[in-house]
Amino acid sequence: IKQNCFKMNKEIRVESPNVVYTDEYIESDYEYTTTKVRTEGNTLIATPETTRYVFRTERKVPKLGVMLVGWGGNNGTTVTAAVLANKLGITWNTKEGERQPDYFGSLTQASTVSLGVGPEGEVFVPMKTLLPMVDANDIEFDGWDISCLNLGDAMRRAQVLDYDLQRQLYPIMSKLQPRPSIYFPDFIAANQRDRADNLKSGTKKEMIDQIRADIQDFRMKKNVDKVIVIWSANTERFSDVRAGLNDTAENLLNSIERGEEEISQSTLFAVASVLEGVTFINGSPQNALVPGVIELAEKKQVYLGGDDFKSGQTKLKSVLVDFLVSAGIKPVSIVSYNHLGNNDGRNLSAPQTFRSKEITKTNVVDDMVASNSILYEPGEKPDHAVVIKYVPYVGDSKRAMDEYTSEIMLGGRNTIAIHNTCEDSLLASPLILDLAIIAELCERIQFRKEGEDEFHKFNTALSILSILCKAPLTARGTPIMNAFFKQRACIDNIFRACIGLAPLNHMGLEYKQD
Ligand code: NAI
Repeated sequence: IKQNCFKMNKEIRVESPNVVYTDEYIESDYEYTTTKVRTEGNTLIATPETTRYVFRTERKVPKLGVMLVGWGGNNGTTVTAAVLANKLGITWNTKEGERQPDYFGSLTQASTVSLGVGPEGEVFVPMKTLLPMVDANDIEFDGWDISCLNLGDAMRRAQVLDYDLQRQLYPIMSKLQPRPSIYFPDFIAANQRDRADNLKSGTKKEMIDQIRADIQDFRMKKNVDKVIVIWSANTERFSDVRAGLNDTAENLLNSIERGEEEISQSTLFAVASVLEGVTFINGSPQNALVPGVIELAEKKQVYLGGDDFKSGQTKLKSVLVDFLVSAGIKPVSIVSYNHLGNNDGRNLSAPQTFRSKEITKTNVVDDMVASNSILYEPGEKPDHAVVIKYVPYVGDSKRAMDEYTSEIMLGGRNTIAIHNTCEDSLLASPLILDLAIIAELCERIQFRKEGEDEFHKFNTALSILSILCKAPLTARGTPIMNAFFKQRACIDNIFRACIGLAPLNHMGLEYKQD
């Protein structure tokens, strides 16, 4: 099969009466077809429904700044190093020879989408060329950390990158200094205390003002048009959600004013970002995005995304369980063990932070199980256990071992055992780039239904980011979709809709007639 992918960033231009390119926008007039289902007696009546939408995508790509909470951590240093290595074209020597930088593992930078059919078959293009997107190499980084280590020393501490790459990056990275952060010891493991030497002081309200001032300072100094804040700091325990405390925007702001103890540092970062009009994404499992934050973001029309980067074991689970259930096979037991020796693993060795991770790691199969009432009775679920152990020796090279046991025909048992070894931060860092790039693009997309005068944004809870998150945040009352390839189809097809192309349906009728 001839490779039909255009590696180079060829520009894509759609020729269609339904698509208009102006200097400012790409506008597409789009037909969205769904199927409504109702029950009449013993019959399910399915009715196709078509709605016309106009999508409008701003063409001017801004200069993007990303601020990471936990910038000096393994993910923070690795993603910063990756962008510098790619931007500066740094090559390095390994025992296998010279290595070029790349963005493997990033949907926007390293995956392709089928554009259509050319004279020589299906044509694939890099996802980043479908719509005007920020190039990963152009992102400016900044951020906060409770540890004062500069990024060069923090990169060394992380022990993720090859020595020769660290050596070349050190002079640049050591000039980058995380800003002081907020530290409430009760929310993370006690074993993190030694790291906490770079802290803000003051009341909770004053700390929010300081974070807002940091965001403004970064904007000004680096001359960035837009900022996105991503939480990649330690996993916190869940905070209580209580009426009067953090259940509404007003109650949350009042609780911050009063200095209520149960308002976590991640919630303060989310509130500060929203008040600055800046998208906030939660890359860890805890409930930073309490109802009060969501309501505040809705009022301010700011996007939120989360929770918890879906990087390894859970990503595979969201493929494997979908495969089993959609093949008519019944998973009955899923057991996932992890051992890791990085600081994330150390922090997760405390029961209350582990519990946050356990929650996001186990909810991921629910929608797939619920989709098949032939295999599962209502409410029935597979046994699902998750174990995480801190084993310092393995460092960032996490081991994930999974056993999936399923029932097959006539009482048969099918057991799949998987052993995955992989640098955790090299999986998570590309997701940080994708979260920022896709969220930024969504800020430039608007759409309206036939008959509406005004354009709308997406919901505050930016569910298009689901593919990158273990526990996707979705708008109230809308379904959560965890299956990886459905999430992927959602992104591909929304991007295609923006340039007036029909969803990918893989029917291939052009090849099927005799
Ligand atoms: P890490 O422990 O190396 O980095 C976290 C950093 O946050 C540390 O430098 C720490 O000093 C800093 N920190 C702690 N509390 C802070 C606060 N209040 N403000 C500012 N900085 C603070 O961990 P790593 O590996 O970088 O992971 C970061 C987060 O991402 C963790 O919560 C982890 O569970 C989550 N995550 C990581 C994945 C991966 O690496 N594959 C996948 C999914 C989630």
